[in-house]
Amino acid sequence: MAFNKENFKKIREIYDGKWKKAELEADARRAELQAKIPEIAKLDRAIADVGLRGVYATIGGGEDAPKRIKMLEEESLSLQEARAALLREYGYPEDYTSVRYECSTCSDTGYVEGKMCNCMRMALIMEGYRSSGIARLLQSQTFETFSLDYYKSNSRAYDRMKQNFEIAKRFAFDFEGENSGNLLMLGGTGLGKTHLSTAIAKTVIDRGFDVLYVSVMDMVSDFEQERFGNGYSNTQADISKYFECELLILDDLGTEVANQFTVSTLYNVINTRLSKNLSTIISTNLNSKDLRDRYWDRITSRLFGEYTPLVFEGTDIRLQKLKI
Ligand SMILES: Nc1ncnc2c1ncn2[C@@H]1O[C@H](COP(=O)(O)OP(=O)(O)OP(=O)(O)O)[C@@H](O)[C@H]1O
Ligand SMILES: [Mg+2]
Ligand SMILES: [Zn+2]
Repeated sequence: MAFNKENFKKIREIYDGKWKKAELEADARRAELQAKIPEIAKLDRAIADVGLRGVYATIGGGEDAPKRIKMLEEESLSLQEARAALLREYGYPEDYTSVRYECSTCSDTGYVEGKMCNCMRMALIMEGYRSSGIARLLQSQTFETFSLDYYKSNSRAYDRMKQNFEIAKRFAFDFEGENSGNLLMLGGTGLGKTHLSTAIAKTVIDRGFDVLYVSVMDMVSDFEQERFGNGYSNTQADISKYFECELLILDDLGTEVANQFTVSTLYNVINTRLSKNLSTIISTNLNSKDLRDRYWDRITSRLFGEYTPLVFEGTDIRLQKLKI
């Protein structure tokens, strides 16, 4: 399991900023208070001094150390009570100068006893949604909202879609990063290919893997930009992500312009990912004959040999939803 490296770096930076900010803000509140109420400054110094003497007593040891430590603890407690009373008197909450972390479990460090805190895991997942390229769809197109009822009018379509649904769920929940297989979703418009691949993406991101979702057209345009520039600036697109993410979902194969460059780009991505045992899901409206006509044999033989085919059947669900 590997979170996207860029996302991890970004979240780590946010977390570093978070606990520092919480501590600086507490320092600022303390300074404000000490300026306003000079007795507080005196008490703060006395509390710090008792604390320091406690540390020395602990380090120094000796027979009477436990007794001295206990006395210092009592002294500290009574100083703190005096401080709290003073704060109340001036109308401040007692914890006014405590550090306020967003997460009290990990004090905004992101880790508890060497393990990643849930808050940081959630932050990475949210960042994973964003970097997947389909943050909005991930909310609505899930396994829970995928209904087999739309295929009920045709029993063959229903059986097939039920099987596709099961295969998609198994793929997502068994996904292990490397060696998790590939899917080829074939079928007409509005039958749920994008919905089901989005549902897979969400589950796989939630399980901590790095997922990238893109239409073939957009991917090809990134490769074009990387190769030829975009004509306006010399910013280069980052194409390494297509070879590195743990799951790449390529939607709408066949809608890109077919030329030597796009086909060789596609071959390069499909072939490199297969050789690295990284999973890819491809969806297309083309049938197997169209695919053979349009792409090199080197591509189609890989698609038919190494990808599990899911054939989508039924009647356009976009239209069914309009009628309801
Ligand atoms: N089984 C389903 N249950 C609920 N909603 C569905 C189902 N299948 C598809 N939909 C919805 O119908 C619409 C079209 O589905 P989707 O975009 O997945 O089709 P598609 O097969 O990708 O079509 P296209 O080939 O045109 O891209 C979406 O809003 C989707 O959420
Ligand atoms: Mg689609
Ligand atoms: Zn936390």
